Amino acid sequence: MRYVVTGAAGFIGSHLAEALTAGGDEVVGVDCFTDYYDPALKEENARGLDVRRLDLAKAPLDLEGVDGVFHLAGQPGVRSFGEAFPLYLRRNVLATQKVFQAAAEAGVRVVFASSSSVYGEAERYPTPEDATPRPIPPYGVTKLACEHLAAAYAAGFGLDAVLLRYFTVYGPRQRPDMFFRRVCDALATGGTFEIYGSGEQSRSFTEVGDAVDATVAAMGSGAAGAVYNVGGGDEASMLEAIELLEWIAGRTLDVRHIDAARGDVRRTKADVSRVRAALGWEPRVALAAGLARIWSWASARVAAP
Ligand code: UGA
Repeated sequence: MRYVVTGAAGFIGSHLAEALTAGGDEVVGVDCFTDYYDPALKEENARGLDVRRLDLAKAPLDLEGVDGVFHLAGQPGVRSFGEAFPLYLRRNVLATQKVFQAAAEAGVRVVFASSSSVYGEAERYPTPEDATPRPIPPYGVTKLACEHLAAAYAAGFGLDAVLLRYFTVYGPRQRPDMFFRRVCDALATGGTFEIYGSGEQSRSFTEVGDAVDATVAAMGSGAAGAVYNVGGGDEASMLEAIELLEWIAGRTLDVRHIDAARGDVRRTKADVSRVRAALGWEPRVALAAGLARIWSWASARVAAP
């Protein structure tokens, strides 16, 4: 098959592009190498992949001869109040509208990367997909807007889209603003890690290999229009996760507590019954094994000259 992966130089997108290529598919990657974090890291992620530079909000996506689109490009990060908001609108809502329009016209399926942040402080835990979405971070508002756009394009243009709500994905190449990456870097360099708030907030952490498996399965056998939670099985608080990483690294982390981040939710916990029944997917990588993997990647990078 021939697939387009948007955001192919990003964290999840680069792993997805590699997995598809390894499985014998042809991948055309697109990415606009924004400076949300150091673009050199994206160049590094994209090494060995065919990634073309494209601003989706501006240039049309050419889907000639393409069998499906994995739309992972976007402006990430849940701490999205204030001046950055226009970027979230542009890189999430406007860019996604262009992708949906192009895919609907070409008649190809889109698997869209949505987010657990659409739930906000969730109605219940574990959270099923039909819980009322009440996003707190503006980022989550833009992801939810994209989900609604998918439904609008399905009704108006027959778009075939499958929506995945990823829950805090981690693993090698994790973005440098994210929790595990920062903890690993601080452990490796001896630096101080700043924790937002008490550290008692918890997440359904999802290993990137598991997230990629769910994404590939969604393209092949997801129901048109379906929404699936892609969430890890092990929930942990930040303090518990730090303890586990300290044990894996055999080092003690220098932690400093600072103010809680605005829009940060107290808890995420995925109900994966729907995705298990539809795709036969469930998280396989236990948190301790996944953390050993990210630590070995991150510590090797710091050790390298
Ligand atoms: C993550 C991603 O960053 C989002 O792009 C994604 O959409 C979202 O998951 C999701 O589930 O959809 P988040 O859960 O906040 O968002 O993940 P991290 O950035 O790894 O943060 C986890 C926790 O660690 C948060 O409570 C955060 O406040 C805390 N944290 C993070 C710190 O205490 N210090 C830091 O330096 C970074």
